[in-house]
Amino acid sequence: MTKPAKTFAEFFAGIGLVRLGLERAGWSCIYANDNDPKKQQQYEARFGEEHFHLCDVFKLQEMRSLMPSNVRLATASFPCTDLSLAGHWKGIEGRHSSAVFGFLECIEDLGRPPILLLENVVGLLSSKQGQDFRKLSQLLGDAGYWLDAFRLDARHFVPQSRPRIFFVGVHDSHIEDCPFTRSDAEFTLGENDWESLVRCNPELRPARLVELMATTELATGWFCSEVITPKATVKRLGELIDLGEDELWWDDVLVKKHYDMMSGIHRSEVDRLQCESSLSIGTIYRRKRHGKTRAEVRFDGTAGCLRTPKGGSARQIVIVVEPDRIRMKWMTPVEYARLQGADDFPLVGRTNQQLFGFGDAVCVPAIEWIGNRILNPIIESIELASSISS
Ligand SMILES: C[S@@+](CC[C@H](N)C(=O)[O-])C[C@H]1O[C@@H](n2cnc3c(N)ncnc32)[C@H](O)[C@@H]1O
Repeated sequence: MTKPAKTFAEFFAGIGLVRLGLERAGWSCIYANDNDPKKQQQYEARFGEEHFHLCDVFKLQEMRSLMPSNVRLATASFPCTDLSLAGHWKGIEGRHSSAVFGFLECIEDLGRPPILLLENVVGLLSSKQGQDFRKLSQLLGDAGYWLDAFRLDARHFVPQSRPRIFFVGVHDSHIEDCPFTRSDAEFTLGENDWESLVRCNPELRPARLVELMATTELATGWFCSEVITPKATVKRLGELIDLGEDELWWDDVLVKKHYDMMSGIHRSEVDRLQCESSLSIGTIYRRKRHGKTRAEVRFDGTAGCLRTPKGGSARQIVIVVEPDRIRMKWMTPVEYARLQGADDFPLVGRTNQQLFGFGDAVCVPAIEWIGNRILNPIIESIELASSISS
């Protein structure tokens, strides 16, 4: 059998970390779209100029002439700004996150590709008390897609806490060939029906997600990718952080300022670690708590979720505690890249641009895992079925 043509078009391509993950799973990008020229600069530094189309996702007329016809998978890691407290929970109708509606128009123009992959923050489950999740699922169902949804955390692959919600869609015209169990399937092997499958792994499908899936009626239906929680060997945070004396370590005044910004519980953790003979590496985020800016530390070997550095407070800080000193520095773009599983990604533009690009992006090995465990079995079954019938 010839290998399936695993072609994809990526929307909201950013700097291209979805592409990096899918390429590792054997997929080829044939179209990429984003409207940010800085992201374009970073994307093209890594992938060249062949496929990136700088254009607003709603400008269909302009996109039509460049969008290819043989897309097997369309991806959308659409803006999350309105699906969080920072974006005032405006929801998918908000100015930024509503760009997903542009994507829905694009997939019509692409002739409804067999497979879709969408990604966003876990805030999608609570936005408008779940109504945004329902609305998006139903629109995808109305477009002819059967859906699976799951939560995948980057910490299964890299030392970064970054839970994300993913949708995989399979178009109705191919659903008979999808190798996973559907919500309309008859009970066959004991309790192996869709509902028990979606309930059996609360790590991948937490109760809130299952509840939304089970109570959202789609014009199509749901399916369940029968995957288990990834078990990769994860590097320790300390292995990804540069500790040399030539790093831009802060002076004593700035270190003291951040130590003083810690609440009692965080400060005593730092004091306790300083009594140990070994070196402890952790991260700090500055957060507003009851009107006060607090420096919150974590030493569990996992960095907090990388975010876009708006106003400095969202930039992660590295803290190193040793018996005779405490060191702190801003986390660097190289370290951001490593925490997204994108080691060796070219660094172009100013520091903030780089941090923005990586902070907004996806975790590469998480996408690779989805590619290998879910998208590949689907496309291979679809291709096998079409080769048999032709
Ligand atoms: C969450 S980021 C996706 C990042 C990407 N997955 C990556 O790996 O870098 C969302 C992207 O959507 C882009 N975007 C926002 N609104 C858009 C629009 N109306 N048209 C096209 N792109 C848009 C932003 O520039 C940003 O790069």
